[in-house]
Amino acid sequence: MSEQASASPVQIRLDGEVLVVTIHNPPVNALGQAVRAGLLAAVEQLEQNAQARAMLIVGAGKAFIAGADIREFGKPPQPPSLPETINRMEACSKLVVCAIHGPALGGGLEVAMATHYRLALPGARLGLPEVALGLLPGAGGTQRSPRLMGALPAAELMLSGKHLSAKAALAAGLVDRLVEGDDPLAAGLACVRELLASGAPIRRTSALPVPGDQAQTLAALDQLAQDTAKKTRGLFSPAKIIDCVRVAVQTPFAEGSKREREMFVECLNSPQRAGLVHAFFSERETAKIPEAKAAAPRPFTRLSIIGGGTMGAGITVAALDAGLSVVMIERDAESIARGQKNVEKVYDGLIAKGRMTPEAKAATMARYTPSTSYDAIRDVDMVIEAVFEDIEVKKAVFKELDRVCKSGCVLATNTSYLDIDAIAAVTSRPQDVIGLHFFSPANIMRLLEIVVPAKVAPDVVVTAFELAKCMKKVPVRAGVCDGFIGNRILAVYRDAANAVLEDGASPYEIDAAVRAFGYPMGPFQVSDLAGGDIGWATRKRKAATRDPRARYVEIADRIAERGWYGQKTGRGWYLYPEGARVGQQDPEVLAIVDAERAKKGITPRAFTHEEIMRRYMAAMVNEGAKVLEEGIALRPLDIDVTFLFGYGFPRHRGGPMFWADTVGLPKVLADIEEFAREDALFWQPAALLKKLVAEGKTFASLNQRG
Ligand code: CAA
Ligand code: NAI
Repeated sequence: MSEQASASPVQIRLDGEVLVVTIHNPPVNALGQAVRAGLLAAVEQLEQNAQARAMLIVGAGKAFIAGADIREFGKPPQPPSLPETINRMEACSKLVVCAIHGPALGGGLEVAMATHYRLALPGARLGLPEVALGLLPGAGGTQRSPRLMGALPAAELMLSGKHLSAKAALAAGLVDRLVEGDDPLAAGLACVRELLASGAPIRRTSALPVPGDQAQTLAALDQLAQDTAKKTRGLFSPAKIIDCVRVAVQTPFAEGSKREREMFVECLNSPQRAGLVHAFFSERETAKIPEAKAAAPRPFTRLSIIGGGTMGAGITVAALDAGLSVVMIERDAESIARGQKNVEKVYDGLIAKGRMTPEAKAATMARYTPSTSYDAIRDVDMVIEAVFEDIEVKKAVFKELDRVCKSGCVLATNTSYLDIDAIAAVTSRPQDVIGLHFFSPANIMRLLEIVVPAKVAPDVVVTAFELAKCMKKVPVRAGVCDGFIGNRILAVYRDAANAVLEDGASPYEIDAAVRAFGYPMGPFQVSDLAGGDIGWATRKRKAATRDPRARYVEIADRIAERGWYGQKTGRGWYLYPEGARVGQQDPEVLAIVDAERAKKGITPRAFTHEEIMRRYMAAMVNEGAKVLEEGIALRPLDIDVTFLFGYGFPRHRGGPMFWADTVGLPKVLADIEEFAREDALFWQPAALLKKLVAEGKTFASLNQRG
């Protein structure tokens, strides 16, 4: 074997009459250039080797093939292309079979669909998740999947990005046979030999017709396109996926593939693709922290959660769902009964929806222990405190924890804003104290800010990241400051929104502008959902330390003073008659806004959506830059992930710092300087932003990976 061949990620060997092709490209056998070249070389060997009658493709390690190599997107194409490789393989004059034992996603499933027979083992997961990256399957996937599954199911699979189990893939027509076990090589060889012995014909998916009545199928696709446009507002690739399926229904494969390629390239070149790929990698990058190199996590199986309110109950569910056991501590019998009810309510909701059985609930609740005595937590491995947001209450709790918890127990607080160094200082073991900032509802929201105080030991930080992994959360490392990464930046762009409100835009216009940018909700809708009383309490708490020169917009206080806290009180910024979830505009709110403007002598002016968003985003990016220069966030991507997973930032825009790069940092800085002419105190450009602009650099230049 030549040196080049031995270095190839595609290993080829003859086993009797079968050419065994093993993809060995860790970690997930992505279809990088060398893999494509190796596959093509394997097909040529099969054609030329008279002894070989068939080819078996398997993946080494955990995956079959997880798709195209996402790192190659946006770079100059390197031959052979994936469509060329796949088409050549399908056209092969000898039998080509694949055995799938793990993920066969995107380009990986496209390879599989072009083989002549497909076998799946129980661990197989098949899907075309390109939509999540702003793409469509661009190597024949939009043309072959309708031929195997039917047009509508294929379109739905591609639009959802869902992974199918082996069983579901068989039912859908994507694979021909299921076999037991976890050895794709043995199962595949047995199958190929059987196919050869029975003289099984070569079957080319591209030659199949798309099943079903054409007119009916096209009508169903039109309906799907309408529904999809509503659901995926602003996204580029979903409509293109449906267009490709329409082409598959109406034209022969060769023509369809050509059209697919054109639309794939349009998607590839769209800024949404760049944003979504940034989001994909950043989500995996935030767990790479300096402490991980220096320390190993402490073991944990038994947790205690202090407080059974909104957050305590949500965190308890997250921990129970992760297989951990939880002792919940509350103040008194009545509160602990309520805490337990809060937990059970979540599971009862799942039972009502048919997503959990009563037996599964009972098994889960067996790992839950309610208590009002700290003595019950002497032997737990980790405590997460979620009591009232009051530093004195929290300090008292931590003194108790210090007294009772075993040595080495991790002591975490779920505070939203408070000084964790000060909380750690009341204990005799600040090296064990850390912040774990969950988001509400804590059993659902994926973001977990891991807040690292000055004296915490590295292995406690690593343990917190391990907890995040075990709970399937997306962890972001943050430093201690008022609000950490997320809430600190949120406070600033909310102030920018309030200033725009007072200067002339209505809350409804601001919400509409923010939604048009791609957020699911605007800031005033969010306030109504979370409860206006929470922000009001924070403003009152901070009133004494507020810079007296800073502009303070009182409109939200006027709303809260009336007891209009939002959905839970039936009105807030919007009206919610009879428990409605979607609010109606409220003329009384507009009158309050007018009165407040008049009080300050402000003549309202009109704002376009673009003008609103320029301010909203400039405030967000500027504060993000300050968070970076202070070392509160490690990298711009950590801020991006915080906003993608905790604050509804539109994923296709990659996150605020990525977005700023796409707009251009000189433009963002120019906006800030323009707004500073109106309010120089608020709009002070971050030194880091000025430095990057002066050096012609981007935030991306600060995103060293791994
Ligand atoms: N290309 C390059 N790298 C990839 C990759 C891909 N397709 N898929 C995963 N990786 C990398 C990850 O970045 C990660 O790298 P680091 O360890 O350096 O962070 C590593 O592989 C492991 O990934 P995960 O942490 O996600 O591992 P997991 O076991 O939790 O999940 C997986 C495995 C289900 C395969 C998941 O990684 C995944 O969903 N990958 C993406 C699949 C995908 O979207 N495929 C379609 C690609 S687009 C395409 O194929 C276009 C086309 O039609 C031509
Ligand atoms: P909550 O008011 O719903 O619950 C607090 C619970 O703590 C109550 O059940 C109370 O009885 C209990 N408690 C108070 N003092 C106690 C003590 N000494 N010992 C044991 N239990 C005690 O409050 P919520 O919303 O759950 O907030 C808790 C913490 O989580 C706060 O620090 C808050 O800032 C933070 N947080 C809240 C978020 C939210 O959206 N609600 C989001 C992220 C963090």
